[in-house]
Amino acid sequence: MISLRATDLAIDLGTANTHIITLDKSDRVLSEPTVVALDIQNQDIVAFGEEAYEMVGKTPKGLQVVFPLEDGVISDFDLANTFLKQFMTKADPGLHLIRPSVTISIPTRITDVERRALEDCCIESGAREVVLLEQPLAAAMGAGISTQEAIGNMVVCLGAGLVEAAIVSLDGIVSSRSSLVAGRLLDREIARYIKETHELMIGPQMAEKLKNTLVNVHQDTGQTMKTHGRDLRSGLPKIIDIHEHEIFQVLEPYLAELVNHIIAALETTPPELSSDILRRGILLTGGMAKMKGLLDLLQEAVQIPVHVAKQPEHSVVMGCAMDRKQQLEMGNKKYNEKKKD
Ligand SMILES: Nc1ncnc2c1ncn2[C@@H]1O[C@H](COP(=O)(O)OP(=O)(O)OP(=O)(O)O)[C@@H](O)[C@H]1O
Ligand SMILES: [Mg+2]
Repeated sequence: MISLRATDLAIDLGTANTHIITLDKSDRVLSEPTVVALDIQNQDIVAFGEEAYEMVGKTPKGLQVVFPLEDGVISDFDLANTFLKQFMTKADPGLHLIRPSVTISIPTRITDVERRALEDCCIESGAREVVLLEQPLAAAMGAGISTQEAIGNMVVCLGAGLVEAAIVSLDGIVSSRSSLVAGRLLDREIARYIKETHELMIGPQMAEKLKNTLVNVHQDTGQTMKTHGRDLRSGLPKIIDIHEHEIFQVLEPYLAELVNHIIAALETTPPELSSDILRRGILLTGGMAKMKGLLDLLQEAVQIPVHVAKQPEHSVVMGCAMDRKQQLEMGNKKYNEKKKD
């Protein structure tokens, strides 16, 4: 049903997945892969989100599937705009009648140009006003941390395009470090290994499945997985067994990099906040926080308690929704005060 008043939106526009919460409904999270399928000849959009993702690697000639974000930022403005417009309209069918206010997350280290591109993208997609919220701060809020206090919390957002480790306190980012060693890069490295070692060409979804369901990065559980692909010699479809330890070996240097990244972020913690971090530990959010064995691996490496947020892939959008509610309350307060005068 179309609402007759503006529906505020909270958005996490991610490299792999986008999440939206419409604030007048329950806090239900709507999620879609950040992808569009288009007709190459006339550039018409054929599908977006889940429907487009289903087409990855299966498109006939004339159709193309494009991910409009890379490394956490917009890489194709027009397609990001098309994607966001479609998804925002799905979340809020009244969007074309009454434009909503939006809180959307941003990586901490983006340029002014990228920042403006995101704002413009939201406005062109139908937003009336846009508030940008730094991703680690949103993640901490969404995971239930009271960020307003003068207490240091360390949050690591483990996404598909970007890993951000940040110290948050007093509703701000005290320090942060970003790395591109994130989910997508790991998938590419897995596919490269399978190609070079087993002469089998696999698709990005198969590589992602090996990372997400086969490997435990803390202990070898001896699992294998049937892996489908195309034999590079014969050109024919082929299925081989891939062992968990093979995937672990591919990921090992990147996991070491992740550990170093977190240690480097810890080293930037002001001494006044160090004891807070030691006591409260490190919070992991983002889809890759669900990697089997990652919590134990990190905990052993940094010798600080590590926690995974309850729904790590939703922490950021839930934080954006909290911020939007606060903005609404502030707006209503100002309005009521004005009425009293
Ligand atoms: N069980 C799992 N084990 C390992 N990785 C996982 C698991 N589940 C999801 N992922 C990975 O998490 C990533 C997606 O996480 P998320 O949705 O938080 O990223 P994003 O927000 O789209 O990216 P970014 O924040 O970098 O722009 C993907 O790379 C996905 O493969
Ligand atoms: Mg993200």
